[in-house]
Amino acid sequence: MPLVTSKDMFKKAYEGKYAIGAFNVNNMEIIQGIVEAAVEEKSPIILQVSAGARKYARPIYLKKLVEAAIEDTDIPIVLHLDHGESFEICKACIDDGFTSVMIDGSKYPFEQNVELTKKVVDYAHERGVVVEAELGRLAGIEDAVKVSEKDAILTDPDEAVEFVERTGVDSLAIAIGTSHGAYKFKGEPKLDFERLEKISNMLPGFPIVLHGASSVPREFVDLCNKYGGQIPNAQGVPEDMLRKAASMGVCKINIDTDLRLAMTASVRKYMVENPSEFDPRKYLGPAREAIKQMVIHKIRNVLGSSGKA
Ligand code: G3H
Ligand code: 13P
Ligand code: ZN
Repeated sequence: MPLVTSKDMFKKAYEGKYAIGAFNVNNMEIIQGIVEAAVEEKSPIILQVSAGARKYARPIYLKKLVEAAIEDTDIPIVLHLDHGESFEICKACIDDGFTSVMIDGSKYPFEQNVELTKKVVDYAHERGVVVEAELGRLAGIEDAVKVSEKDAILTDPDEAVEFVERTGVDSLAIAIGTSHGAYKFKGEPKLDFERLEKISNMLPGFPIVLHGASSVPREFVDLCNKYGGQIPNAQGVPEDMLRKAASMGVCKINIDTDLRLAMTASVRKYMVENPSEFDPRKYLGPAREAIKQMVIHKIRNVLGSSGKA
């Protein structure tokens, strides 16, 4: 099946109150692990590529690997640019066959974010490509900040409506307390569901995106640390919170950190248990399997997208 956009996927996910997993890809094993999981679960999937991934693997290699994946399967796959920081990178990916791009203007003032996003939307829509934007900045909700500062970081519902209307963007990443990486909360995990509900109600039918949605499972941190890792006090978003978000208009859930943890735990364990082995296939094979199992777990127990392909 050729690459698809997320339009139809999000419509069905919104109506069915589940979410599509957007997993970051950096190399062949990661792509294969994710796609094998999606095929087994008959789940639609988004493969997303960051600027860092493009730099690491080179755009042509990632493109050819994804082409191999779509030739090999018949599940709907979206190829998405994650956190595009300029019109130029979005244009390069659109011209290169991506079916979805994110323009991340969240660091700019509102008007500048609108202007940049609109420019990308105009270019993308003329070519049948969909666009995700971001409003608000991801940060720990537990940070010792004054309420006004907190509100300045989390997405403002009125601004979200104005932003969507003025840009014509297809989906919007909002900030309700998640953050990127393995250290998301200083104390008790907490998401601003009231804010999510408000935004969702004010934008009926519109797909909301949650970044920084890894759960950082304790067992994988422990496994890394058991085999020589030194990962301190990591804490992610509890899975029940993600399931709740998926039932409230969140149609895309971004996961990268959990794949990194699964892969690293597997490699660390193999290396310690097999100190004389040096064939990369011996440790990358199990690492690919660890990615696959992590994605199967997410699809079944967090996203609810099994059987929706
Ligand atoms: O949101 C960021 C993703 O986890 C990608 O990370 O920029 O290190 O590739 P990266
Ligand atoms: P995590 O770091 O929580 O996996 O978030 C990934 C992400 O948002 C990619 O855009
Ligand atoms: Zn992100």
